[in-house]
Amino acid sequence: MATQQTLLIIGIFVLAGFDGCFSVIPEEEQNPNFWYVKGKEALHTSLSMKPNLHRAKNLILFLGDGMGISTVTAARIMKGQMEGKTGEESVLAMDTFPHLALSKTYNVDQQMPDSAATATAYLCGVKANYGTLGLSATARRKDCSSAKGNEVKSILHQAKMAGKSVGIVSTARVQHASPAASYSHTPERDWYSDKELPSEAITGGCKDIAYQLVHNTDINVILGGGRQYMFPKETVDPEYSTVTGSRQDKTNLVDVWLRSRNNAKYVWNKKDFDAINEDNTDYLMGLFEPKDTRYELERDPSMDPSLTEMVEKAIKILRKNSTGFYLFVEDKLISCLVSIA
Ligand SMILES: *[C@@H]1O[C@H](CO)[C@@H](O)[C@H](O)[C@H]1NC(C)=O
Repeated sequence: MATQQTLLIIGIFVLAGFDGCFSVIPEEEQNPNFWYVKGKEALHTSLSMKPNLHRAKNLILFLGDGMGISTVTAARIMKGQMEGKTGEESVLAMDTFPHLALSKTYNVDQQMPDSAATATAYLCGVKANYGTLGLSATARRKDCSSAKGNEVKSILHQAKMAGKSVGIVSTARVQHASPAASYSHTPERDWYSDKELPSEAITGGCKDIAYQLVHNTDINVILGGGRQYMFPKETVDPEYSTVTGSRQDKTNLVDVWLRSRNNAKYVWNKKDFDAINEDNTDYLMGLFEPKDTRYELERDPSMDPSLTEMVEKAIKILRKNSTGFYLFVEDKLISCLVSIA
């Protein structure tokens, strides 16, 4: 009997698939009782939810950069349609989370916000000016002298101070605005390396974001793109012979990072990444592209790990800390139109 039912359901899906368009209104959705039952179920689930009063040990923050409500709606419909249904009735894993909230992450000085000041809002808890990172709104964009004394602390920094291991994983360059709000304080999100720093910022004592990645909060796991900002301009990229580092100060920041840490490893390709033994690695930096990594559809799986693989590796290293860990995960490459922000 069970087998017959299963076959019947598959049959309906195949028919809908052959139909080519989705003009067929699902039988059940025409019946008001279907919706009443669903409503009752939802109410029952909410009423029977027990508040979790335990104290969390670990925290993973996933950020979909450019993934607003309409992008999520499009994803839900597409998931359903790929299963041969009309789409809207589909349920994403995140739709089933017990708690959902919306939060405003606006910029203080203008209406269209950017990733730097919004990341400062959700990672440091302080709303900020457009284009600035890890600074309160007292600081002004590109004004080095306005930065000093206006630094705000990120959740990554606070987790580290609380004795946890910490990490960042991103499909963007790791010096990009969203991850950089975890560890840098700068009035200009585009100051990736000292090449981008104007001379008055250098004489004013401001440091580029790549420098701050290595010298500020001690981060256990750093995975993503952004190789070029770590190496001197004389250094040719190991993967692309036409690309060189961008640093003018002749500093190899990867070496600086490795030298001052125990059990630290640096990798730039999938083979070396796979060979990392989490048991004897306490620090891992993996930079797989000179700038941002590629879209998942364009990724060469023999050269670069996927976001999932990076997250798995990060957790295996970070979870060795008995006090717990904090991990920031960003997929920047979700919607190409919105990813400019
Ligand atoms: C856990 O993290 C803290 C803070 O970084 C560090 O001092 C401690 O050594 C770590 N413990 C382990 C077991 O890795």
